[in-house]
Amino acid sequence: MEKQNTVVLLITLVILITAATTTVKSEDESKTKLLVKYSHGKKYCDKGWECKGWSIYCCNLTITDYLQTYQFENLFSKRNSPIAHAVGFWDYHSFITAAAVFEPLGFGTTGNKTLKMMEIAAFLGHVGSKTSCGYGAADGGPLAWGLCYNHEMSPSQSYCDDYFKFTYPCTPGAEYYGRGAIPIYWNYNYGAAGEALKVNLLDHPEYIEQNATLAFQAAIWRWMTPIKKSQPSAHDAFIGNWKPSKNDTMEKRIRGFGSTMNILYGEGVCGKGDVDSMNTIISHYLHYLDLLGVGREQAGSYDVLTCAEQVPFNPNKAASS
Ligand SMILES: *[C@@H]1O[C@H](CO)[C@@H](O)[C@H](O)[C@H]1NC(C)=O
Ligand SMILES: *[C@@H]1O[C@H](CO)[C@@H](O)[C@H](O)[C@H]1NC(C)=O
Ligand SMILES: *[C@@H]1O[C@H](CO)[C@@H](O)[C@H](O)[C@H]1NC(C)=O
Ligand SMILES: *[C@@H]1O[C@H](CO)[C@@H](O)[C@H](O)[C@H]1NC(C)=O
Repeated sequence: MEKQNTVVLLITLVILITAATTTVKSEDESKTKLLVKYSHGKKYCDKGWECKGWSIYCCNLTITDYLQTYQFENLFSKRNSPIAHAVGFWDYHSFITAAAVFEPLGFGTTGNKTLKMMEIAAFLGHVGSKTSCGYGAADGGPLAWGLCYNHEMSPSQSYCDDYFKFTYPCTPGAEYYGRGAIPIYWNYNYGAAGEALKVNLLDHPEYIEQNATLAFQAAIWRWMTPIKKSQPSAHDAFIGNWKPSKNDTMEKRIRGFGSTMNILYGEGVCGKGDVDSMNTIISHYLHYLDLLGVGREQAGSYDVLTCAEQVPFNPNKAASS
């Protein structure tokens, strides 16, 4: 009887030890193992969970190579202070998990290290400014309060646009107020994001304020995706894949951070001169460049950085008349 117990114990121990070493090994591998292949003279790589699926963008540094937990904490240092409105919600791990899906497409993995870090600073600059509760005299300065919110606090309506009743019909009782890292508003935006991410956001818009990974994913999807065929994605406008048309050039839309604001917010922010709504986004971006050690001097000239003189991509005819 006693001998049997010992045998069982031994076997259990062996299994436990084997399991432990396998786990450690596979974690190590997922960090370091880079698979490489060549096709038509191009190099394609696969880098474990963070950059999975043969892509040219997985061959160089990935986000975890240049953005660590402490840097994320520096950027969003006040988000868990008692007076913040989403205490405990946002974290580094959710951001990396969400970003991993888009890294093989070039998110934070395009160009040299400086450009990669600049794109992350730019994206997070949008996020920080849109989720900030920092005002003039806030403790730590107004730029320390990004990721303070994860949803709109006092929505004045439920953001249901009946025009889309056949494509993205509003679900009775659902509220499509602003939620997320770059907040989503309106049934049609929840519908489109949900379709892309394969999550039923039309019936369950609240998922965005319950799941930080999903909230980051929706924001990165928005950053990576051209919403209209004639327009670039914010990603392409920022990293330089976009070739402005004659009209774009005539209307002062050029590659750079300024155009990302134009794509994401249009006339809400752009073409209005030096307005606060634009400057607060730029300030976050520049602050994050400094905190990440890239330095704001990398951000480029005034016309690259701002959209003060740009004609909005999508002028709202009703509003401009
Ligand atoms: C990989 O890094 C090299 C050297 O920094 C750079 O020239 C190249 O563009 C990068 N590749 C991709 C796909 O970003
Ligand atoms: C990184 O790439 C940018 C353009 O994408 C270039 O201006 C810069 O000089 C490069 N930096 C280094 C260190 O190679
Ligand atoms: C949160 O969202 C992510 C991405 O869609 C998903 O993989 C994960 O299962 C979700 N977590 C929970 C607890 O629902
Ligand atoms: C360029 O702008 C003009 C005038 O606004 C417009 O009629 C034309 O359709 C535009 N062309 C393109 C390719 O967008």
